[in-house]
Amino acid sequence: MTVITKSPKKAAEFIKKGGIVAFPTETVYGLGANVFDEKAVGKIFEAKQRPNDNPLIAHVGTLEQIKLLTDKITPNAQKFIDAFFPAALTLVLPKSEKVPLIATANLDTIGVRMPKHELARKFLKYCRTPVVAPSANLSGKPSPTKWEAVFEDLDGRIDCILQGEATEIGLESTVVDCTSEIPLILRSGAVTLEDLRKIVPETKIYQVKKDEIIRSPGLKHRHYSPRAKVVLISPESRVQSPKSKAFIGLREIEGDFLSVKICHSAEEYAHEVFAFFRECDAQGIEEIYCEIVAEKGIGMALMDRLKRAAE
Ligand code: TXA
Ligand code: MG
Repeated sequence: MTVITKSPKKAAEFIKKGGIVAFPTETVYGLGANVFDEKAVGKIFEAKQRPNDNPLIAHVGTLEQIKLLTDKITPNAQKFIDAFFPAALTLVLPKSEKVPLIATANLDTIGVRMPKHELARKFLKYCRTPVVAPSANLSGKPSPTKWEAVFEDLDGRIDCILQGEATEIGLESTVVDCTSEIPLILRSGAVTLEDLRKIVPETKIYQVKKDEIIRSPGLKHRHYSPRAKVVLISPESRVQSPKSKAFIGLREIEGDFLSVKICHSAEEYAHEVFAFFRECDAQGIEEIYCEIVAEKGIGMALMDRLKRAAE
């Protein structure tokens, strides 16, 4: 049975006993386990049906805990920590000996993030250990931005859900590889390229080269997809399809859509999109038309997720 609670202290007790707990953050809900408890970490992969070559992000409640995860905070990583933490930002660093390989999918690096979300911080402090947590959805499905979405995917498969509000940002954290001289953005998020370049001007977006071993294994897996077919459309285009359909975007649209969500900004669009995907699936909608947005600010991360969902 999955316990649902609003108490971060009660939720943390499950982590201490080797359980797995879903908890809110400012990006999406995560599914956590004690990073140093191999058995508990294994339960995460099982509950989510996550491929075991996809590494997890370790979440800390205090800056001191970062030293439990890595012996080498590189100079650029230190600059990002000073400038942004706590934030929707994950830094990939060389992992320390103590971190079990199951958490990092056999990589010698670990993603480290300190969430800003108040309830998440309280929960992590009660856990008294870094907590590895992927998004708390079944693998391949859209990340959960509400506790109800976690419940839909994982009820009965996990020990506890720490109940919070809908997440503020709605897209996952920016992931930046800080292991080499030039920081590389592996996944875009609310902390943007422009933000990072203000701190380290050399920062780049990682482009997968042909035949290269992919740096972020998660990038190769199917992601963020509703059951419905996702179709990206430009602001001008008209939609003609006999299928049952929905629309999300920034402008008004004409046509017989079963569900329409007009957002007033790219931020609101990012905040709404995953929940909208899930609602459409619940209604059995066949096609979801998503308006494309400018790839700047949060629009970069939003377009990344939309493109993956449409693949
Ligand atoms: O906002 C977030 O990041 C949320 C919340 C819960 O913190 N977590 C999240 O985790 O989105 P997940 O597991 O769904 O996505 C983690 C991504 C994956 O694409 C994974 O491959 C990449 O980060 N990643 C994790 N550790 C890595 C590492 N050591 N090297 C390269 N990529 C890594
Ligand atoms: Mg995920």
